[in-house]
Amino acid sequence: MAKRVFIQTYGCQMNVYDSARMAELVEPLGYAPSDTAKGADLVILNTCHIREKAAEKVFSELGAIRRLKEAKEKRGERMILAVAGCVAQAEGAEIMRRAPFVDMVFGPQSYHRLPEMVARATREAGGILETDFPAEAKFDHLLESTAKSEVSALLTIQEGCDKFCTFCVVPYTRGAEFSRPAAQVIAEAERLVAGGAREITLLGQNVNAYHGAAPANGPRTGGEWGLGDLLRALARLPGLDRLRYTTSHPRDVDEALIAAHRDLPELMPFLHLPVQSGSDGVLMAMNRRHTADDYRRTVQKLREARPDLAFSSDFIVGYPGESELDFRATLDLVAEIGFAQAYSFKYSPRPGTPAAIEKQVPEPVKDERLAALQSLLREQQKAFNEAAVGATMPVLLERPGRHAGQLVGRSPWFHPVHVDAEPDRIGAIVPVRIIGVRSNSLTGVVDNLQAAQ
Ligand code: SAH
Ligand code: SF4
Ligand code: F3S
Repeated sequence: MAKRVFIQTYGCQMNVYDSARMAELVEPLGYAPSDTAKGADLVILNTCHIREKAAEKVFSELGAIRRLKEAKEKRGERMILAVAGCVAQAEGAEIMRRAPFVDMVFGPQSYHRLPEMVARATREAGGILETDFPAEAKFDHLLESTAKSEVSALLTIQEGCDKFCTFCVVPYTRGAEFSRPAAQVIAEAERLVAGGAREITLLGQNVNAYHGAAPANGPRTGGEWGLGDLLRALARLPGLDRLRYTTSHPRDVDEALIAAHRDLPELMPFLHLPVQSGSDGVLMAMNRRHTADDYRRTVQKLREARPDLAFSSDFIVGYPGESELDFRATLDLVAEIGFAQAYSFKYSPRPGTPAAIEKQVPEPVKDERLAALQSLLREQQKAFNEAAVGATMPVLLERPGRHAGQLVGRSPWFHPVHVDAEPDRIGAIVPVRIIGVRSNSLTGVVDNLQAAQ
């Protein structure tokens, strides 16, 4: 009987990408994917360390899986339990101590050694800890996937971060910034398209810091490509209709990237550009290395290049030292820019980061500010969604909806759109007339007249 692997993914899309690669790596060892931990022979928790709550989830989940593992052992069977991702990287030794029933712990830079680790765990008892940053480049050791792709596929082009924002664990969990060579990225994009992808989202913790080796034949051979160059090359791939990228840093939006938004219809008009705060004092303390006005100017330039570009952002409220005035500057910036969507968080002190040892803003103040900010952001999101009603827009149909006969897709502006359509339309880009708004999505009808043209 085939063995089964269950992978639980937390955190950002880079973890989603990594989880898919891990599934591919263990497939040749005979592990078929399972959507539950129950009965699985290999369970991998791919974890996130970004906020305290995210990290604590791992330990509670481990408790539940321990019971499944013990039940399996009572039947004389074995479950290999692995903790991967950013909590593994940051707290590997702590996990081995607090949860000795875990068989292996490995960070985001060493999961290409998974087959070898699984073999070792099968052979020997005792835990495996693999959290150094190995010298060999992980991407060179990943398989060349020939599997069927998602209609909207993810592609990691850059990893790690050298920015060291004072609140953030990423530079410690993912390591120094590294860009994959452009030729490697293009080859992976070609495979994704051959497997059925029509949209690709380029991923990186700091994706627009991309500076990969230029391909052997083409512009700037021997030098480097920025994200703008890469987008230009990918936009030319036949069958690849839509491009997105995330997450970008305001400091790294350069002229070539702005020009790509101006020139490439394939580059979708929705950009996640986290600003964190609207106060220059807080931005400075966070080591973001830009001001609120720099952000305004960048947004303005991007809007000049692509007038229908919609923005989304991340915000942190209650960063150490944030005053009422600072917070109001954030509200002002939000009111001014107008976001289509946003994520906002209370500052969460993370071990080993500089801001964690500063004097903290009291919890009730954080709660109050978060509520005020989220209420404003919700209003903006609602207005943005309602403005779509009556319009007809091309929707890429991605997956079945909750009800039979329904599909869910995305508009160019990243709205999820529900439409009535048959499952064989998955992968099609169809004109949809928007007729309604739900809390976080739109409903529409396929405009058959236009579709037939
Ligand atoms: N590279 C991206 C962010 C990656 S982390 C960037 O530079 O913008 C995703 C988001 O989590 C951040 O944008 C930030 O808003 C939030 N975040 C990171 N560390 C946090 C912390 N310690 N407390 C609360 N939110 C945090
Ligand atoms: Fe973290 Fe992003 Fe800052 Fe890097 S740029 S340290 S990933 S918040
Ligand atoms: Fe979390 Fe690591 Fe991503 S900390 S947000 S999974 S880079």
